Amino acid sequence: MKNNRILIFDTTLRDGEQCPGASMNLREKLEIARQLARLRVDVIEAGFPVISDGDFAAVRAIAREIKGPVICGLARCVPRDIDAAGQAIKPAGKRGRIHVFLATSKIHREYKLNKARDEILRLAVEGVTRAKSFVENVEFSPEDGSRTEPDFLVQVCRAVVAAGATTVNIPDTVGWAVPDQYGALIQHLYDAVPEFQSGQSIISVHCHDDLGLAVANSLAALRHGARQVECTVNGIGERAGNAAMEEIVMALKTRGDFFSGLDCGLNTREIVKSSRLVSRMSGLVVQRSKAIVGENAFAHGSGIHQDGILKKRETYEIMDPQTVGWGQTELPLTKHSGRAAVAARLKHLGFKMGETDVAAIFARFKEIGDKKKFVYDDDLSALVEGQITEVPEAWSLDYILVTSGNRAVPTATVRLQELAAKKFVQDAGIGDGPVDAALKAIDRLTSTHGKLMDYSLRAVSQGKDALGEVTVKVDFGGGNLVTGKGASTDVIEASARAYLNAVNRFLSASNGQTAKAAEVP
Ligand code: KIV
Ligand code: ZN
Repeated sequence: MKNNRILIFDTTLRDGEQCPGASMNLREKLEIARQLARLRVDVIEAGFPVISDGDFAAVRAIAREIKGPVICGLARCVPRDIDAAGQAIKPAGKRGRIHVFLATSKIHREYKLNKARDEILRLAVEGVTRAKSFVENVEFSPEDGSRTEPDFLVQVCRAVVAAGATTVNIPDTVGWAVPDQYGALIQHLYDAVPEFQSGQSIISVHCHDDLGLAVANSLAALRHGARQVECTVNGIGERAGNAAMEEIVMALKTRGDFFSGLDCGLNTREIVKSSRLVSRMSGLVVQRSKAIVGENAFAHGSGIHQDGILKKRETYEIMDPQTVGWGQTELPLTKHSGRAAVAARLKHLGFKMGETDVAAIFARFKEIGDKKKFVYDDDLSALVEGQITEVPEAWSLDYILVTSGNRAVPTATVRLQELAAKKFVQDAGIGDGPVDAALKAIDRLTSTHGKLMDYSLRAVSQGKDALGEVTVKVDFGGGNLVTGKGASTDVIEASARAYLNAVNRFLSASNGQTAKAAEVP
């Protein structure tokens, strides 16, 4: 008899972060992990500890602080990776999990690993056995599982389960699967491995969205015996992304009739908040028409629909927007609001801020409050974002003056403070437009040469005086994109702040941190 409880394994901080330009710093990861705990996910895959000192530190900090979910660290099937994951998750104690992976498909065996089936089996068992010396809770993933010969996949599952794997994940690594076929594969494995039937080990699924089928494949697998689903908030992840958590969870909840009562313990009211936080922290904007969390997900344009909704909501709405957290906004703050009110609202929004952070955010709040009538929760979140994305700052923006017009040469004068030297430097630049002029001046002042690869601007809240939030992705050489974010009521200032944030991130990474050392899957 299959148990109906579905475990939600969130990999926003690992596979999600593998999305180019989405890398996050420790504080951002911690904020997301806290939110995932409020969302009540079952497992947080907090990172890939061996790939950098930063990843190791983030997994360890999350394992130390976050209570509730299981905290998982990823490892290739090699001792160095497994040991690093074991060390990083140690503070989570019995709630720690090591996730070991090794490719099993013919194409990966022959071209990537140059290893025969026997050797793969041996390495997989050795990897699980080593991981078991750190923790009881061990997951094994045969990478490219969906393209692995089913008979060999059964052999792998039996071998790793015998070695102690408590979860076996069947990844659709390249998004190749289609629902009927993937569901049948999961059923085949379930029927072939007695421990999956007894619940001694469970099948997990991990689908990528290359054909836009990640959620459909995941749901098909759950109907055929999988009891853990790996997903990310907003579906962010490698290439086209991973299965979107909010879509899986709401499909199960809304169509319980079809999914025979499969249930996950998620607190769905936290979904929209989680989506916004991840979007802010990762710099990946959610498209307006995205299911569940897009701005338009519950907006009804046509008169016929609006009329129907007014008569009976269910005529055109299959979910109540409030069940996923829409419509929970509080009264906006104004420039008259005091520090205690701002601190209380930050707490209510779920941010964990120390005194120094609150003081810095309050100072920015006052600046903004002078320029706009109302400061909304989204405005405040943008300020928090500015504060916590601050890497050890080499440079800060002191002053910016821009002249531009349809007949003028766009010119920007920028004054920066170099924090270590405690001195101010100033320069002026011309450019194709005022933003370009400002960024050129910043490049000269900081001796960096960034190539702007992506630029997006969005209004954080409503009204003509809305705060503009700029996200930039900059290539400082070497092809690695660095994300920067900045907000202001003035879009040129927001652009300069975002660019400077990217410069600071780049300088901090090249001075202090070890670069990613391994190829990630
Ligand atoms: O897509 C994949 O195969 C992965 C594994 C590490 C599970 O992310
Ligand atoms: Zn993946």
